[in-house]
Amino acid sequence: MTQDFNTENYFKQIYARPVILETQGLSQVFQHDQIKRTILKQIDLKIHQREFICIIGPSGCGKSTLSRVVAGLDDFDSGKVLVDGKPIQGTSPERGMVFQGYTLFPWKTVKENVMFGPLMKGISRTRAEEMAREWIGIIGLEKYENQFPHELSGGMKQRVAIARALVNEPKLLLMDEPFGALDPYTRQKMQKHLLDLWQNIDITILFVTHDMDEAILLADRIVALKANPGEIREIIEVNLPRPRTPDIMQSDEFKQLKAHVNHLVHAQDDIEIDPAMQNLPSIPRMTQVSTQK
Ligand SMILES: Nc1ncnc2c1ncn2[C@@H]1O[C@H](COP(=O)(O)OP(=O)(O)OP(=O)(O)O)[C@@H](O)[C@H]1O
Ligand SMILES: [Mg+2]
Repeated sequence: MTQDFNTENYFKQIYARPVILETQGLSQVFQHDQIKRTILKQIDLKIHQREFICIIGPSGCGKSTLSRVVAGLDDFDSGKVLVDGKPIQGTSPERGMVFQGYTLFPWKTVKENVMFGPLMKGISRTRAEEMAREWIGIIGLEKYENQFPHELSGGMKQRVAIARALVNEPKLLLMDEPFGALDPYTRQKMQKHLLDLWQNIDITILFVTHDMDEAILLADRIVALKANPGEIREIIEVNLPRPRTPDIMQSDEFKQLKAHVNHLVHAQDDIEIDPAMQNLPSIPRMTQVSTQK
């Protein structure tokens, strides 16, 4: 491990930077079958410029709800969401989104997908094309700029989605399980690519994952949510040196952190999580094939 990495100084520097995203007492209530459920309760967060924050928690605890609210896709019940100290109003290019379900325009080529944001801002076609080319170069897909999304692999599509968000020079990049559908090898490459990007550009990242290895590898701080209602259980400062590579997962420090995060995510009182996960029906036997399973 790098000897000259000083965790205390590292976090001192982070906290000295301006706060980019702040949530104050953020709560979200959903109604389903006449029953009101508090999904997010009193979420207080302060995320500083160039920080890499991972949100982790059990399925159904409200991670996507939180990212949709911060993105401005959904209204919320009470509290405040501030970017640069100002309340958010709907979606904005200053908050780039890379969500699993938030896909590319299938009828546009890679280049046209990336040009979309700048064109919407009124930037000329020539300049938008230049900007798109630059970002397509950064994500290494020059050869694919005229292809359509269905001609790309899952990993390539997510790289285009990242370029499409970053071309707008957002203050904040919101990522909700962006690599969830990728195979482990591609996922690892994408994690490295994202760390390289983050290391080299001025971007603050809020990254949702339920993968503990991913959260520890990427984050400055991990926000562990509990479920029912979704509340902050703990915010963990990741005391691992940077830059990080996947080898770090073998270190004792990494393993200790993982045990701690694992305990937080799977703590006993989280048994009642998503109502849909409770009382799972037993499957009636429908096979005619004789097996002893
Ligand atoms: N629009 C909605 N209307 C009603 N309930 C909703 C809505 N969106 C989410 N929920 C409920 O809120 C809870 C949290 O959902 P959310 O998608 O935020 O969980 P998550 O932490 O992202 O889970 P996962 O890890 O499975 O993606 C779930 O119980 C879900 O059913
Ligand atoms: Mg989710």
